[in-house]
Amino acid sequence: MISKELQDSLIQQLNKEYQSAYIYLGMSAYCSKEGFNGAANWFLIQYQEEVTHGMKLFKYLEDQNVDIKLPLIQEVEVRFNSLLDVFQKSLEHEQTMTKNLNDLSDLAMKDKDHATYNLLQWYVTEQVEEEATVSGIIDHIKLVDGNGYGLYTIDKELSSRVFVDSTAN
Ligand code: FEO
Repeated sequence: MISKELQDSLIQQLNKEYQSAYIYLGMSAYCSKEGFNGAANWFLIQYQEEVTHGMKLFKYLEDQNVDIKLPLIQEVEVRFNSLLDVFQKSLEHEQTMTKNLNDLSDLAMKDKDHATYNLLQWYVTEQVEEEATVSGIIDHIKLVDGNGYGLYTIDKELSSRVFVDSTAN
């Protein structure tokens, strides 16, 4: 039985995963509008990933007989200053998600809720990869320093990303 405090926090996290999906959909829309079709593809796959993160948590809450609530998804930003800006905002967002998940893990540990703690460790591990990937893209964008051909090449690389359901492992 998950404590009421942890249940409420997990429901908030469920909302944040879907909010994240929506944030990335907004980023994809921006990139598409600016002609960065590869980056638009990259963020669309990021959107799909967040939906699977939400579903993994949703299924866990169902299995644990939690009285699920689905709070509102907030409107998101669709305007950014540049390709660098949109990826920097993406990194900031993932850093906030990492903090949320660490706080949730602390709460599960305090409750001695090993099942929930184990589930959360999957998310914590996933965050390491997410942050590293976005940081790498930011480094490449900084390296080309606004050069058109450089940005074109990065965008082309981002177009090759394909969706892999990491929750299936
Ligand atoms: Fe579901 Fe990008 O964290």
